Amino acid sequence: MSATIIDGKKVSKEIRETLKTETAEFIEKTGVIPGLAVVLVGNDPASAVYVRNKHRACEEIGFYSEVHELPEDTKEDDLLALLDRLNGDPKIHGILVQLPLPKQIDADKVIRKIKPEKDVDAFHPENVGRIMLGNYRFLPCTPAGVMALLDAYGIDPAGKDCVVIGRSNIVGKPQAFLLLERNATVTICHSRTADLSSHTKRSDIVVVAIGKPRFLKAEMVKPGAVVIDVGINRLPDGKLCGDADFEPISAFASAITPVPGGVGPMTITMLMKNTLTAAKAAVGT
Ligand code: GUN
Repeated sequence: MSATIIDGKKVSKEIRETLKTETAEFIEKTGVIPGLAVVLVGNDPASAVYVRNKHRACEEIGFYSEVHELPEDTKEDDLLALLDRLNGDPKIHGILVQLPLPKQIDADKVIRKIKPEKDVDAFHPENVGRIMLGNYRFLPCTPAGVMALLDAYGIDPAGKDCVVIGRSNIVGKPQAFLLLERNATVTICHSRTADLSSHTKRSDIVVVAIGKPRFLKAEMVKPGAVVIDVGINRLPDGKLCGDADFEPISAFASAITPVPGGVGPMTITMLMKNTLTAAKAAVGT
């Protein structure tokens, strides 16, 4: 048996088509164009690619988009002042500050500065709290993308043993909550987990998000399991690979996401969805 390859590009395209139609209807009805501001500080090349892709996605769907590129040595106060302006700008419904930020800037302070109603990353403590309480405004983009992929392929987490490898605020922790919300039994593993294989081997769904190339080996995975690979690692030869050892695992898993073309395209799609949600909430529809 070989695994179903979960096609994130295809699912992403379908969702973006729906968003495009919904956006056109929203603009027609309200006269308001959903607007996203993306802020990039510094010269990280990977971040620059992400920001460009976000801008392109906005154009494709019919949003208004602003990209603010600030120099590496930007002062924290200047970034906070920009966020104040964007918080008060009626053209802007969503604000995203690309992470990581340079050392002189306190990312926590920046995240708290973004008005929760415009926090389309869902990183603000108020939005994180709402997710924990099951009463969310926005879902964080990558974990929401994972859930949308599971749904698109008819994989219901209810009652399943799920393991999330990684405990970041961006992916691991919120991912565990979203799976829990869908009635999975969830284990969170991390760098200090004593016997990782004992957890992964008994899991029906493994979400791996730790940023280590081909970390999840075939012998760590139960036959018939679903493997969701959130990792994007660049190898010395320039090729991209995920956190899971794709080839051997795909021989016996029931489904697996490829890298690239799995979770990656879904993240920006979910950002677009959140921006439309923010615009709708702003005009009260
Ligand atoms: N850097 C890596 N992933 C993300 C993300 O989802 N949002 C932001 N703002 N920065 C990131």
